[in-house]
Parts: sequence; C-alpha cells; structure tokens
Amino acid sequence: MSAIKVNNLSKHFAFPKRGKPGKMGPNGPKQTKDVIRAVDDISFEVKRGEIFGFLGPNGAGKTTTIRMMTGVLKPTKGNVSIFEHDVWKNQTLVKEITGNVPEEANVYFDMSGLQNLMFIGEIYGVPKKIRQERAENLLTKFELYEKRNLKALKYSKGMKQRLLLCMALMSNPEILFLDEPTTGLDVQSSRIIKQLIREYNEKGVTIFLTTHDMEVANELCHRIAIINHGKIISLDTPQNLKVLTQEYKAIDFYLANGVDKRNIEDLNTIREVQEVREGFHVIVEDIHESICEIVDFIKKNQLVIKQLNTHEPKLEDAFLKIIERGGRD
Ligand SMILES: Nc1ncnc2c1ncn2[C@@H]1O[C@H](COP(=O)(O)OP(=O)(O)O)[C@@H](O)[C@H]1O
Ligand SMILES: [Mg+2]
Repeated sequence: MSAIKVNNLSKHFAFPKRGKPGKMGPNGPKQTKDVIRAVDDISFEVKRGEIFGFLGPNGAGKTTTIRMMTGVLKPTKGNVSIFEHDVWKNQTLVKEITGNVPEEANVYFDMSGLQNLMFIGEIYGVPKKIRQERAENLLTKFELYEKRNLKALKYSKGMKQRLLLCMALMSNPEILFLDEPTTGLDVQSSRIIKQLIREYNEKGVTIFLTTHDMEVANELCHRIAIINHGKIISLDTPQNLKVLTQEYKAIDFYLANGVDKRNIEDLNTIREVQEVREGFHVIVEDIHESICEIVDFIKKNQLVIKQLNTHEPKLEDAFLKIIERGGRD
C-alpha cells in the first residue's frame, strides 16, 4: 500500500524580467515574467514502511517538493495525497498523521529542550501524563536527556536538529518528513539521527527525506529518487542505481618484488593493466575471480604481496553519471 502519492506535481515561481522594459498594454507597460519551474511535473509513490530518499544537488527542487508534500506550499499543478487524502485540502488531518522537520525549522530558544517538547505535545493534544513520559523518552533516545533543562538557545546546531526531530516525533506520526536531516551537523549528531531514523522506520514509521549527500541516501534509503532541475531523472534502490552506471571494477595490488607488466596482462580474468608505483591497477569483470587468480600468480612465482585494495562503483559515481546524462535512460 502506498503511504504517499505524488501526481504530476509542479511548482512554478514567476518574477518580473530584469533589464527588459515590458511591451505597452492597455494599462501601461505589460509586466513580462520569467518563470522558474522549481518542480516540473513529477510523479512517484512512497510505500508504507519505506525510507524514501529524494537526492539531488542544491537548487534541484527538493525543498519545494517537500513543502508541497507537507501542505505548506500550494502546487501550481498536480497534487499530493497521504493515505488517499489530498494534502492541500486536508491540512489538519495531514498534520495529525505526519511529523515534519523543515529545512529552516527552529526551536523555541527561550525554552529548555524539555519545555519545547512539552509545549509541542500540548499543541498536538497529547495527554499530560503521556506527554512527560514521551518527552523524556525521546530526549534519552536522542542523547539530550542531560541537557533537557538547558535553554535551547545554548544548544549546538546538532543538538537543535536532534530536538527538532524529537518535536516532530511527539505526536507519534505515521509518516516523517525530513528536509536535509544531517546536513552540516557534527559527526555524533549525524550518527544519532541516522540511527534513530532507522529505528523509527523499523517500528513502522514511513520516512521521506531529502539530501544532497549520496552516502546518507545510500546508508538509509530503501529507494532513492534522483531529482535535478525539477525533474525526477531516476528512481530505484541504491543497489540498482549503482549497477545502472557500473562501468568497471578494479583492484590495486602492491608487491615487494618487481614484476613485468606483461605477466599481469597474461592473466585470464584481467581486462586492463596500469603500472603504478610498486604495483598494478587492474580493471576486472569479477572481483572474486581476479583476486583468486592474482593470489595464485603470486604464490606460484613466490612473490610477496604488501597490499591489495578493491574498488567497486560508488553511489556517488552513479549520482554524478545519472545527472550528467540527464536521465536519458
Ligand atoms: N519562494 C521562491 N521564490 C522563487 N524561487 C524559488 C522559491 N523557492 C525556491 N525557488 C527556486 O526553486 C529552485 C528549487 O529550489 P529548492 O526547492 O529550494 O531546491 P533544493 O532544496 O533542492 O536545494 C531554485 O532555483 C530556487 O531558487
Ligand atoms: Mg533544500
């Protein structure tokens, strides 16, 4: 069952053209306009229980999309539904079943972490008894419990982002929207957030997140849509996105002895050989077969191996390649 359906969604921003004076109309000069298609006719579904990643470079249209998905921004065309309810027309209901951490969200600086959570809990109508317990639980999970009585003003960026996540979770949402949840954070906050995204997902929360960081997408997401210039140019699992653009696998190995390059070229499973300092960089079809063959060769010739590294295609390579060719296939 899908949790979210996005149908032919577009957002255009218009502004007056700079430099050129408008043509004369009946009411004076006509305003000529430039239109940015920030989101350009996208459609996709997020399944219930999924961590769905929206990956793309800055300015790709991620924030504009997530704002329309959460009912903050009205689409120019198309619509978004959550469990079959149109988001724009059912904002109250949607707010009840979703949690949201926008890109530029903020906490209440004058309140402590705990007070922020109690306040949000009250807004959501969480009963007082449950409110306190849930707030303390969340603070513990996100490693903020010890700082629960400190004013949020004094929180670091990473602590603030963790508190925002706690706030979004106070209503026990079924779906969580996160816009760049780990961008610009310290390693510890980023680790805690990733871990808890996984944990809440395992408990059944559907998660939609945006990121421009392929490693984050790779680590967390079941499926990833790649967006550029307002269009989705690819949508698949991280594994398939890697395979899609896979060009070659390679092995580097370094030897204590000098070996003639031709001997390496003669090996059956090796496609191409480059000589590097004290070793070779070889391009292969199958990492396992080639490692076995290289090791056999080394043993047979009584050579000494110092180091061996393998290179497999990374999601980052896939991302760049898909963007370069504009999703033509
Ligand atoms: N309120 C707005 N008015 C005009 N242009 C906007 C507005 N919001 C976003 N844009 C433009 O839309 C494009 C997509 O922006 P955004 O959705 O923020 O991208 P991302 O989150 O992927 O970095 C950019 O070109 C941005 O300048
Ligand atoms: Mg953004």
